[in-house]
This record gives sequence, C-alpha cells and structure tokens, in this order.
Amino acid sequence: MLEIGLFDAIYSARALRRLKPDPVPDEIITRILDAAIRAPSAGNTQNWAFIVVRDGEQRRQLGMIYRKASDIASEMYKARSRPAHMTEEQYRRLMTSGAYLWDHMGEAPVLLVPCLQERATPARATLPPFLDAMYERELAYERRIHGASIYPAVQNIILACRAFGLGTLITTNHIRCEEEVKALLGLPPDVSTYALMPIGYPQGKFGPLARKPVSEVAYVDRWGVAWPS
Ligand SMILES: Cc1cc2nc3c(=O)[nH]c(=O)nc-3n(C[C@H](O)[C@H](O)[C@H](O)COP(=O)(O)O)c2cc1C
Repeated sequence: MLEIGLFDAIYSARALRRLKPDPVPDEIITRILDAAIRAPSAGNTQNWAFIVVRDGEQRRQLGMIYRKASDIASEMYKARSRPAHMTEEQYRRLMTSGAYLWDHMGEAPVLLVPCLQERATPARATLPPFLDAMYERELAYERRIHGASIYPAVQNIILACRAFGLGTLITTNHIRCEEEVKALLGLPPDVSTYALMPIGYPQGKFGPLARKPVSEVAYVDRWGVAWPS
C-alpha cells in the first residue's frame, strides 16, 4: 500500500476509466472490501453484499449490459445541457472518457458490484395509529434514504483503491438494465445493485480533482448566505 494521506487521497481519487488488464491480487481486493464494510449504514443494518466479478465471461457479459444501458444514458446526456461550471473542453473530455468505458467496462480485471438487501418495512398493523396515518410518507422516506446505506461504502472503496494505486469509479448506468444484471449474477429478488465499479491499475494519472469552490456551494445558517471561505 502506498503511504498516502487521507486528504491527498480525497483530492486525487478521480474517476479513472482507462485501466490496465493486469490482475489485482485477491489480498488487495480483500483489504478494499474490509475498508468498504467500515462504512455507516442506516440502523447499522449492514445489509450490503459485494460481488467481486473476476471471471472473464461474467465480465464480458456485464460489459455488454453496461454498453446497452449506456446507449440510453448517452441519449439522456444529449438531451441535457452541459453543467455551467464546466468548460466545453472539460465536458468534451468527460464525454470522451465516459464513452470509452461503454466499450471497455468488461476489460477491467475486476468488476465490483455493491448491492443492498431490502429491509422490509414493518407492516401497518404493527404501527401506532399516527404512523399508520402517515405510512405513505414513511415509505417515501425509506425510498429516499435507501442508497445512503451503500454509497458511503462505495466512497470507501474509491479511497481504498486510491491508497493501493488502483483506479476505479462509481458507475450506475447498468441499473437501467437491472434485471439482466441480477440474472447474470444470480442475485436473490430482494437484493439490488447500486454501482458497477471497474477496478484495475490505471493507464492515466490520479487527480487533482476540479470542483466548484466551497464559496459557491456552502451557506451559513440559511440558503443564499455564502459561507465565508
Ligand atoms: C451517482 C453517480 C453515477 C455515476 N454513473 C456513472 C456512469 O454510469 N458511467 C460513468 O462513466 N461515470 C459515472 N459516474 C462518474 C461521474 O461521471 C464522475 O464521478 C464525475 O464526472 C466526476 O469525475 P472526477 O472525479 O474524475 O472529476 C457517476 C457518478 C456518480 C456520483
């Protein structure tokens, strides 16, 4: 493992889509997974699962599903405008890099699929009347926070990969073809995938990460009063 400070890792763990085919040792994947499971989850349920896809044919198939799903994503991108904070050149580079992955996802030596098992909502009859009356709102709340029990683990994976000199990124396009992914991986009906993360030694370099500055996105006490950074 490289000696890298936490802030250096945070500032340099950019989305790396061009990866070498060289194998990644299992011990390193285990360390990355062990970092993932240190993440918080709602009620500490830890109802996550991580599928490490190494088999060449499984990766190829996942890559094909990602390719198909990305055709939909690409039309959505065309219909959206470029974010105001990005220059045309930055946006063009993002689109080029994204398009590269459409055709090369299956070539990464490891495809990691973070999943969550659904947690049944208590039946209405077991709840006090005031909660029964607002049951739909509670369901909406649960839907809203669901992914928050896996995405902190995904960020831990990104940072752990950075510490090992491995490239990765979070992708979600495949969720558009979720049923095919579930069938391929043999997932039980109540388990869903939340990301598809190619992992491998990078062809390019890490960071630095360009972001909108804190002064544009942070407020003090209420919306619109800029945080004095
Ligand atoms: C929720 C989410 C979904 C994403 N899905 C995809 C994806 O399907 N394909 C892809 O190439 N990148 C995907 N990304 C990666 C983003 O494009 C990337 O994080 C962003 O452009 C910032 O890149 P940078 O960290 O290199 O600056 C996704 C990121 C997030 C947070």
